[in-house]
Amino acid sequence: METRSLIDFGDITMSEWEELYETAEKIKKCPADFRNSCSGKIMATLFYEPSTRTQMSFQAAMMRLGGSVVGFSDPANSSVAKGESLRDTIKIVTGYSDIAVIRSPLEGAAYAASLYSRVPVINAGDGSHLHPTQTLMDLMTIKEIKGTLTHLKIGVCGDLLNGRTVHSLLSALSKFGENTFYLISTEELRLPDYIRKLLSVSGGKVYDVPTLDECIGELDILYMTRIQKERFKSEEQYQKQSGIYILDPDKMKLAKSDMVVLHPLPKVDEIEYTVDDDPRARYFEQAENGMYIRMALVLMLLTKGGEKVKKREGYPLPSKRFCTNPRCVSNHEKYLPEKTIEINGTKSCAYCDHEII
Ligand code: NCD
Repeated sequence: METRSLIDFGDITMSEWEELYETAEKIKKCPADFRNSCSGKIMATLFYEPSTRTQMSFQAAMMRLGGSVVGFSDPANSSVAKGESLRDTIKIVTGYSDIAVIRSPLEGAAYAASLYSRVPVINAGDGSHLHPTQTLMDLMTIKEIKGTLTHLKIGVCGDLLNGRTVHSLLSALSKFGENTFYLISTEELRLPDYIRKLLSVSGGKVYDVPTLDECIGELDILYMTRIQKERFKSEEQYQKQSGIYILDPDKMKLAKSDMVVLHPLPKVDEIEYTVDDDPRARYFEQAENGMYIRMALVLMLLTKGGEKVKKREGYPLPSKRFCTNPRCVSNHEKYLPEKTIEINGTKSCAYCDHEII
């Protein structure tokens, strides 16, 4: 059976997405039916960055499937603190386990790990780049509530530059087509160009909107995000961006009665506490769905080879370092082979998707 990893939503086919959704809904209805589905299997969780929901929901997912979990949540307690490379850590850990879940501050780290892994690797967030399992639960929640993933008016608000959940969600939604996107951010925190291109190629209408008030009345979905403090170069730069977008009851009055508010969580100050009690706020439900869709994903990767999708193969280049993104894993783990891919005709780094200049 071929090892399948999930680095990006594009690593599964649309029919596999449908299957994941159906399985997650079945699990949600009766989790007990699945309690021995992965018995005897071990999941390794490698968290190089803080996490509450993602790590715990993966652990809970594996345990509810009858499997066990090993791993670390603080690299300071592992050999990483002694200077071990990602490659060596992965080679060792995947010798102990059947599936590995990795979160890293470096962009492309999960893809890099998959190059050296004998078992499926799941990307649980790589820097500002992608977070595909968050996307699975976002899509599940939207589909459950709205019954569709097309013809929707979707607003994403906050840190569109550094928010990996937004990058993953928009690139996935671009595959469903016919959606309208409202990108609500400051000039400084605008969506990166490579994601923007995916949206326009998909035929979706895209509007840049500086304030929530301007578009909230149009929206079917409002996806709020946290300003990603840890990605800023200085506290001062962060302070300039924080507190600009705050969803409060007055803004909710401008919204449609069936608008859905989502948030990947944790939220800091971008949603007032009183909004939690508004029936349109569905983010706690969204977080719970994360466990069910992760159960479905682990089950799929461990028990089925799945359909063949075009792999993010890339090809070797003869030169030295090729990616100019300082946060790309290829600039930190220097042994990594140079790999490029084409994204809409643009030659890009296969680890972090940045354009090769
Ligand atoms: C998100 C993340 O880590 O990217 N959290 C999560 O996984 N639910 C969002 C965030 O940290 O803002």
